[in-house]
Amino acid sequence: MAIFEQVELQTSRLLLRPLQESDAVALLAIFSDEKVMQYWSTPPWDSIDIAHALIARDLKAMAAGEYIRLGIERVEDHVLIGTTSLFDLNEQCCRAEIGYGMASSAWGVGYMHEALSALLDFGFSELKLNRVEADIDPRNLASAKSLERLGFSREGYLRERWIVDGVVSDTALYGLLFSDWNNTHQ
Ligand SMILES: CC(C)(COP(=O)(O)OP(=O)(O)OC[C@H]1O[C@@H](n2cnc3c(N)ncnc32)[C@H](O)[C@@H]1OP(=O)(O)O)[C@@H](O)C(=O)NCCC(=O)NCCS
Repeated sequence: MAIFEQVELQTSRLLLRPLQESDAVALLAIFSDEKVMQYWSTPPWDSIDIAHALIARDLKAMAAGEYIRLGIERVEDHVLIGTTSLFDLNEQCCRAEIGYGMASSAWGVGYMHEALSALLDFGFSELKLNRVEADIDPRNLASAKSLERLGFSREGYLRERWIVDGVVSDTALYGLLFSDWNNTHQ
């Protein structure tokens, strides 16, 4: 598997790059926000230790090619506004799952579309993925719309797949094939 610690992706307004220790405070600000975490797979973060642990885990996992997670830095002011990742990489099946989260102050201006387009492009062209999946809470309409705008199809509905802080929720499973992507990005 590829080594991801050096990967940087540039878009017109964003720099996607590995997280570094100095991102801990910005990460905590993003992922302690209840609006951001409403449909997340964990409760809102309540300690900077969670940010430090995630960054430390990334350093090892990215070097080992286990998964790729990139911080989303706004070029204009160098502020970290979110993260996006490709994880559960399955080399044999050329498949991965995509994850993303962004500061609520940065919603609504197309940053995540720009970031996810760059990461998907990397996944399909550099990692030679054939399929990318997304597992979202069906009530997360902003996330569903973001995926559909990128060309993802809703393929399945899995009941009571998540229990976060005692709250049970379902999964809407989305998929995007290389052929779907290639048809719209020639
Ligand atoms: C999902 C997320 C990245 C979307 O980013 P965003 O900047 O809010 O995206 P936008 O504002 O451009 O919204 C995307 C689309 O959803 C629509 N939308 C936004 N909020 C909505 C809401 N509450 N209800 C219905 N539609 C909504 C927008 O109108 C837009 O539609 P368009 O593409 O037709 O214009 C962002 O909301 C987020 O980080 N959420 C918290 C983390 C999260 O849930 N991540 C996904 C976990 S699977």
